[in-house]
Amino acid sequence: MNKKGFIFDLDGVIVDTAKYHFLAWQKLAKTLEINFTEEENEQLKGVSRVRSLEKILAWGNKTIPETKFMELMGKKNDDYLSHISKMTKSEILPDVPKILNYLIEKQQPIALGSASKNARHILERVDLKKNFDAIVDGNDVSKAKPDPEVFLNAAKLLNIDPENCIVFEDSVAGVEAANVARMVSIGIGSKSVLGHADYVFNDFTEISEGFLNTLINN
Ligand code: BG6
Ligand code: MG
Repeated sequence: MNKKGFIFDLDGVIVDTAKYHFLAWQKLAKTLEINFTEEENEQLKGVSRVRSLEKILAWGNKTIPETKFMELMGKKNDDYLSHISKMTKSEILPDVPKILNYLIEKQQPIALGSASKNARHILERVDLKKNFDAIVDGNDVSKAKPDPEVFLNAAKLLNIDPENCIVFEDSVAGVEAANVARMVSIGIGSKSVLGHADYVFNDFTEISEGFLNTLINN
């Protein structure tokens, strides 16, 4: 049987945590008197914590000392984790378990490729960690998406060539990273945002077993 490497982003692809990142950044921006919009938030999806705060400060035309920067990063994460601590399996996005189970049944290697330093904790919380053959997260990479490092590392751990990997992503930066890695990019979200992906679906309920078979066999 053909083997492809299936690499999943976490936030906004497997679990509905993108909204918690947004809430936490919005709260922080407010304390800095920076107006933070949904459109700006779209540009933070897939982007590391450090880079996100740098971008928010730039949008607000603010500079702060390094110690304050570190303090704010800690605050954002504490706030984010307070949401995560209440998270249940119900926040796994629709049909994600079905897709994972189908790929497992077809003996396809599966990896996580996330920018988040909280990824392992979240996968454990929603009891999905056991489904992944490899995990690469924000603790394992030095270059953030759109750099392809996270996905190339995942391919290496799966022992699959990058051109035989398929990436599921909800962020502009993540789709770009998959494209740079020469992997098949599948955008999960809106076509107007993720038009640079090879394929785009609103969510996993639109992905059929037939489509997965095509990915496996081509
Ligand atoms: C990505 C999210 O998955 O992880 C970003 O899309 C987030 O919004 C990034 O900033 C880093 O996550 P964390 O959990 O380490 O702050
Ligand atoms: Mg994401």
